[in-house]
Amino acid sequence: MEKKLFEKFDGTHVTGDMLQEASKLFSENYGVWSEHAAKLTSEFAKAGSRVRLSKEKLRSEYILEGTSCSYVRVSVNGYLAGNAFACRWNLNGKTVCWITQLVVHRDYRERGLAVGLLNELKQDGDDVYGVISSHPAACLAAAKAFGSSITNISLDFIKENAESIMKASPVRYVRDAELRGKLFNPEDDSGLVSSVDTGFYVDHEEPLEALTWVRESMDWPLGELLDGHEFVLILKVRRRPRSRSRSIPRSGSV
Ligand SMILES: CC(C)(COP(=O)(O)OP(=O)(O)OC[C@H]1O[C@@H](n2cnc3c(N)ncnc32)[C@H](O)[C@@H]1OP(=O)(O)O)[C@@H](O)C(=O)NCCC(=O)NCCS
Repeated sequence: MEKKLFEKFDGTHVTGDMLQEASKLFSENYGVWSEHAAKLTSEFAKAGSRVRLSKEKLRSEYILEGTSCSYVRVSVNGYLAGNAFACRWNLNGKTVCWITQLVVHRDYRERGLAVGLLNELKQDGDDVYGVISSHPAACLAAAKAFGSSITNISLDFIKENAESIMKASPVRYVRDAELRGKLFNPEDDSGLVSSVDTGFYVDHEEPLEALTWVRESMDWPLGELLDGHEFVLILKVRRRPRSRSRSIPRSGSV
């Protein structure tokens, strides 16, 4: 029988060995550079070569000093099958939890591990969740873990709050991402709806295939995916009003 283990760590408890494993997982499974990358990103970004992240870069960009960061991972039969990083910050008294990285090993995809990892990240007190991703499956997973379904998201909430939330981020790539799409500029006729220009030229073959597949069965709300762009999804936590009768002990009970 398969043994699946989810673990969550505060950023301050993430060790070098954990980051070494996370670096290997990312570098072997995240994706490959697109043909535009070499020209625009860096001379090391050769088209078709794997996007890599060293453990030092993971520490400096995903476990930020002085910021509340979390790391969750899932192992299957003792092997690292997926992981996620998140950072939290405060804006106007609300806690924003932003997924800064999510990767699942190729051999373990499409069996709910991304949803499981994001569920593990959830914390009481979080008011807003956000993610930037080119992969529709990452958006589907976030919508499921933090809301209910991608078809129920509030585009109005994203439209009204994306800029202030992202500009307040301690994470550089979130702060620097430029909002794009019809949601933020009604004159945008590129087909983008809720996107960011991150200048991250990762190959989109796999995400575009996923997008085609997803669109066959639902009304995808986040629009097209263009080179160098990613979707942005921001969700407000829905809190059910607590029924008063639940907190008042019934006569006869303790
Ligand atoms: C994106 C990624 C993390 C998804 O991981 P996963 O464990 O396969 O996702 P899950 O099994 O939890 O699936 C989440 C949802 O996406 C759907 N999905 C997963 N892969 C899909 C695919 N290739 N095509 C279409 N839908 C897909 C699932 O059916 C599920 O939808 P549902 O809840 O409506 O059934 C994984 O594909 C990955 O690591 N990709 C490369 C890195 C990347 O792009 N990361 C995102 C950057 S933040």
